[in-house]
Amino acid sequence: MEQDTLVRLESIYTRFKKQEGNAISILQDIQDEFGYVPEDAVCWIAEASGIPESKFYGIVTFYAQFYQEPRGKNVVTTCCGTVCHVKGAHRVLFQIHEEITLPPGEDTTKDGLITIEKVACLGACSLAPVVVINDKVQGRMTPDKMVRQLRKLQEKKP
Ligand code: FES
Repeated sequence: MEQDTLVRLESIYTRFKKQEGNAISILQDIQDEFGYVPEDAVCWIAEASGIPESKFYGIVTFYAQFYQEPRGKNVVTTCCGTVCHVKGAHRVLFQIHEEITLPPGEDTTKDGLITIEKVACLGACSLAPVVVINDKVQGRMTPDKMVRQLRKLQEKKP
C-alpha cells in the first residue's frame, strides 16, 4: 500500500474512533476519500478496527451506494425501466455504445472519463426516457441529444 493511501486511511480511522462511528460510516468515508471502496482499504481498516472484513463486504455488496471499482470522472446513468424502455431507452443506450468504447465487460472507459450505469427505474417516468448525467436528470432523451451530451463530456477532457 502506498504511503499516501495509508495516511488517508489512518485519518479516516482516527475520525471513526473519535466519533464512535460504525462500519457503514467508515465505508462512506473511504468512498468519499477514494471515490470507491478499494479492497486493500477494507483489509487495512478491518485489521485496525477489529471489525471482520466479511462485515464490510456484506455492507458494500448490499447497498447500491457503494462501489468496489473506480468510477469514471463522469457518470451517465440510463434508466432501463419499463416506461423508459417503451419510450426508447434502448435506442439511447445503443447510441451511447456507438459513441463511446467500453472495454469488454467494463462500465468505464479506458481513460476513466465516463462510466455508464443502467438502473431499473429512476422514479421520473413522466420524463421517459430518462438519463442522469453527473446527478443532473435529463428527461425525454433521444439518441441525438445523447450524442451531444457525450461529446460535451469528451470536450471537457483535460
Ligand atoms: S422507468 Fe424510467 S424513470 Fe421510471
